Amino acid sequence: MSTPPETPAAPPVLDYDDRGGATYRQDFWEGQGRDYEDHAERVALRRLLHPTHGQRLLELGAGFGRLSPFYTGYQQVILVDYARSQLSEARQTLGDAGYLYVAADIYRLPIAEGTCDAAVMVRVLHHFADVPAALAQIRATLAPGAVFILEFANKRNLKAMLRYALGRQAWSPYEEAPVEFVKLNFDFHPRYIAAALSAVGFRTTQRLPVSFCGWGCSSEPCRPPGWWGWMRCYSVLVG
Ligand SMILES: C[S@@+](CC[C@H](N)C(=O)[O-])C[C@H]1O[C@@H](n2cnc3c(N)ncnc32)[C@H](O)[C@@H]1O
Repeated sequence: MSTPPETPAAPPVLDYDDRGGATYRQDFWEGQGRDYEDHAERVALRRLLHPTHGQRLLELGAGFGRLSPFYTGYQQVILVDYARSQLSEARQTLGDAGYLYVAADIYRLPIAEGTCDAAVMVRVLHHFADVPAALAQIRATLAPGAVFILEFANKRNLKAMLRYALGRQAWSPYEEAPVEFVKLNFDFHPRYIAAALSAVGFRTTQRLPVSFCGWGCSSEPCRPPGWWGWMRCYSVLVG
């Protein structure tokens, strides 16, 4: 009798359903002094999401649907999240008309190939130990010419550069490899992300640095000459 081929182990997932009673909305957003970050992200999305309408938009790691009311121009919005508790919270707020809620792992997306006109992923990539595998899954769901808006946490931010220079931090913000600063929480070098995106066939058309070490500096996302020093970066990609 022959031995069946081994299934490769799936990369680990940070399970938001298993946070010892902690809730993402209450513990991270509500009354936590993050209004600037929330506002800046909405402004960034407004600027970057073009076209603002289409048939189907996929939001990956949508959580409780904080940003989902944005996508009103799309006939169908698919909210994917690993945590059922997040999706049921989103469903209570958004309802069923126009929305589809899918509890799934982004590493194994149950979405048919080439069916989405747009995709958005905000504050999720930092939980991925295998970025190329996740990006390949997302890329496969997109129709030709579809837009993908990706936010990632930039390890080459001002705070990390200062801490490294002062010897307060062991890891280098200049090295391309991702840094796992807490289990399943990574910051990324922009060059690493750019290479991973282009390896699966994305072309970057626009980049927007959004928050500065998490501190607010104006009511709009700022536009510095480069994107050195910025903590949260948005990229618009065309597949
Ligand atoms: C920090 S929250 C961000 C939620 C939302 N995007 C926002 O900005 O408010 C990260 C979300 O990603 C989800 N997530 C993490 N890893 C995932 C995976 N492998 N597949 C699907 N969802 C995942 C979590 O369940 C959680 O809801």
